[in-house]
Amino acid sequence: MHTQHQYDVLIIGSGAAGLTLGLRLPATARVAILSKGPLQEGNTWYAQGGISAVLDDEDSLESHINDTMIAGAGLCNPEAVRFTVEHGPEAVQWLIDLGVPFTRQQDAGKNLFHLTREGGHEHRRVIHAADATGRAVETSLVETVRSRDNIDLFEQHIAVDVITAARLDKSDNRCLGAYVLDREQPRVEVFRAKCVVLATGGASKVYLYTSNPDTSTGDGIAMAWRAGCRVANMEFNQFHPTCLYHPKAKSFLITEAVRGEGGKLLLPDGKPFMQRFDQRAELAPRDIVARAIDHEMKRLGIDHVLLDISHKSAAFIHEHFPTVQQRCLDFGIDMTREPIPVVPAAHYTCGGVVVDLQGRSDLPGLYVVGEAACTGLHGANRMASNSLLECLVFASAAADDIQAQLAATPMPPELPEWDESNVTDSDEEVVVSHNWDELRHFMWDYVGIVRTNKRLERARRRAELLQSEIQEYYWNFTVTNDLLELRNLVQVAVLIIRSAQLRKESRGLHYTLDYPQPDDSQPPTATVLTPREVSPAGHGTSGGNGAGPRSAVSPL
Ligand code: FAD
Ligand code: SIN
Repeated sequence: MHTQHQYDVLIIGSGAAGLTLGLRLPATARVAILSKGPLQEGNTWYAQGGISAVLDDEDSLESHINDTMIAGAGLCNPEAVRFTVEHGPEAVQWLIDLGVPFTRQQDAGKNLFHLTREGGHEHRRVIHAADATGRAVETSLVETVRSRDNIDLFEQHIAVDVITAARLDKSDNRCLGAYVLDREQPRVEVFRAKCVVLATGGASKVYLYTSNPDTSTGDGIAMAWRAGCRVANMEFNQFHPTCLYHPKAKSFLITEAVRGEGGKLLLPDGKPFMQRFDQRAELAPRDIVARAIDHEMKRLGIDHVLLDISHKSAAFIHEHFPTVQQRCLDFGIDMTREPIPVVPAAHYTCGGVVVDLQGRSDLPGLYVVGEAACTGLHGANRMASNSLLECLVFASAAADDIQAQLAATPMPPELPEWDESNVTDSDEEVVVSHNWDELRHFMWDYVGIVRTNKRLERARRRAELLQSEIQEYYWNFTVTNDLLELRNLVQVAVLIIRSAQLRKESRGLHYTLDYPQPDDSQPPTATVLTPREVSPAGHGTSGGNGAGPRSAVSPL
């Protein structure tokens, strides 16, 4: 029997959401932060454009709220939007105080910091660190967190499932901790905690082409679902319009700020086309731009379009987009002289685990923050640069709520150890890699930018078959990082497909040829999926909540 880790707060995930939450807790709280890879690896590190907040006298909270609601296509929760926007300036100030080196105005005008513009924003309100905002933010957060004595960091530790009281035959259900695979040992350990936070990021790796790093496998969404929490709006997967098109570039993002600063989208013959689709042209919200590009690529049988900012001076491009410029040069493209070939790619998970304004999920003691959560801010389509803002604001609110709970919450008792008694090491790793490829291919082909009933039904059949195969594999073999991620990815795929099938209209990021218009006959509603009732014992074959020593049963 191994010693069980014991903390006041267990935070699973070390991106903007997880680290902010850890730092916002009082120094008296004992905190563990896990990351399944190196601490800084996650979407946050790769964020380019910036963080939106009302920082200019000519801008207003009402304008930011209004733009967010318009982009969200009628599905934003107004309360969540207002809450986020109103807390935005303070959240950004906190980062400034931490020392994040945001880009300053060159001409020392009335703004201290340079604000860029992106799609859907009526005003310049995106504070940024050139085109590598995420790297600057994550670096400051990591440096600060490393200096805190009350926070222990566990890299290369992947959470398998959260542990719930219901799973242990306790009557009052509550989150008690998590099973965690230490990838280096390798060994599954028990972490006990008064409160557990899922800050595990999004799930865009479920698609073949994505701007996201390998970490985005929807682990937190799948874990919360298995623990009995509702998820919402999973059909709204955002495709970023402009990722670098090059056989060797692994979906490198070309920031929307390129369009914000005047970049034009062109067809191969040099003709602009966005005006035909929306009067806001290149600065229309992302769903519209990505669909327009997809439409033109299919209409003309071309494999990319072009993004041109070469009319700007080389000095301007270098100052604003040094990272993008260098990456393009690595592939022989000089963006100061020629257009960049671009394609859309899966970028952001707008849906997630249903939480309230304090980040509380349906399971007492379990919080979800950042991209893994569905707060109601994004509705059917996230506006650019509202995501990092959401991470900061909700992590801070959740930290306050947790702080208020800690004194009255007892430490969970010793929990059952992970049960490895009936498993062996796999001699067929190829099953995992093959299923991984298959899943991402059919999600791209059938559940992508343009959907149909037929394609979704095809995807559903395949996903459910894969899920049962992976489930069986999970029960029989020692767990590995790849197997755990695949198990989560397939769960998220099933949730995306199920949600997409339930929405009989086109809205925001969900576009289907069978119902090409929004259904305005009634007020739009979120797609909320609820796991089947979990029996208190939870050992059964249906509705198992995923919280036992080895529990894998899908609630679907
Ligand atoms: P992440 O930063 O993705 O962190 C997730 C963490 O969870 C990682 O530490 C990972 O190791 C850990 N983790 C996951 N699963 C497990 C597990 N099972 N066990 C243990 N640890 C786990 N948004 C903006 O607002 N502005 C931008 O300019 C912007 N640009 C972007 C550019 C790119 C290329 C990308 C990919 C995204 C961009 N976004 C942007 C979106 C934004 O970066 C993300 O939504 C945000 O960073 C998510 O933060 P997070 O803390 O929720 O998750
Ligand atoms: C970008 O820089 O284009 C990404 C911004 C975002 O995803 O919010």
